[in-house]
Amino acid sequence: MSRLTPPLPKFLRPAPPRPAEKEHVGDNGAGEPGRADKLREDAAESGAKVIGWLDERTGTSPFMRGFLFRKVPKGTNWFYALGSATMFAFLSQAVTGIFLAMYYNPDATRAYDSAAHITNEVFAGELVRSMHKWGSTVMIVLLFLHMGRTFVFGAYKYPRELNWVIGVVLLVLTLAMGLTGYLLPFDQRSYWATIVAVNLNASAPLIGPFIADFLRGGAEFSSITITRFYALHMLLVPGLIAALIGAHLYLVAKLGTTAPPWLKAEKKELTKEEI
Ligand code: HEM
Repeated sequence: MSRLTPPLPKFLRPAPPRPAEKEHVGDNGAGEPGRADKLREDAAESGAKVIGWLDERTGTSPFMRGFLFRKVPKGTNWFYALGSATMFAFLSQAVTGIFLAMYYNPDATRAYDSAAHITNEVFAGELVRSMHKWGSTVMIVLLFLHMGRTFVFGAYKYPRELNWVIGVVLLVLTLAMGLTGYLLPFDQRSYWATIVAVNLNASAPLIGPFIADFLRGGAEFSSITITRFYALHMLLVPGLIAALIGAHLYLVAKLGTTAPPWLKAEKKELTKEEI
């Protein structure tokens, strides 16, 4: 068995049959399980059967088992939940974003009206739009807290450097989500703020002007700009984020998490034979 397949925890292992169960008299009274007994048994096992069916065809259970029941170091605390909290913030953004995309129109002449329509007329539109707007801030705050945790706990050191680098790319992509999303309501504030942000990008050395041209979809702001931001905001950048979160979590499962820095390795007294 590989290192990634720890045994199932006790509460998930099937219980051995009790002696009394062998003499069980079924619901037909003939000592054999009747139809109702069989149905009950089948219903109780249906979940395990579906998982068994999938596992036989995909072979994913060793990975899932390794991921879900892996050992974590002593002293693991709530700060270790910040990564998962960031992931849930991303999932919430994805779900609310899908609902917004059902009503939003990325056309320069219609974008503002469609956003106002979501807020004022669509059922729960204001709630979903606000969740998406505040969720983006929550995700960025959680991201920085998670990054701070991994930095302070020294989790960026060998052998986790690659996961740190993936994290940095995730950070840049998450900020890119904020930038590209800001233009979409297409009101005065989002329009002028985006002009400032794109001009800031343009001032970067060497590649700055190319980034600005790419974002604008040309040398000037035009109706293409909002379509471009929309494509980046709901296809390219979230796709990259989802793929990189997958790689990030794979490495977390493979390398395990770092123990808190204040925990010293336990000293084991050596026996005479070992000395
Ligand atoms: C969308 C953004 C991100 C998500 C969803 C995410 C998710 C996670 C999760 C669930 C874990 C395991 C649990 C934990 O230690 O908190 C983790 C670990 C880690 N993350 Fe992130 N992360 C993100 C961004 C970042 C960033 C920006 C960095 C740093 C630049 C980073 C660096 C790390 C490192 C080094 C670990 C390993 C921690 C250890 O071994 O103790 N992550 N991440």
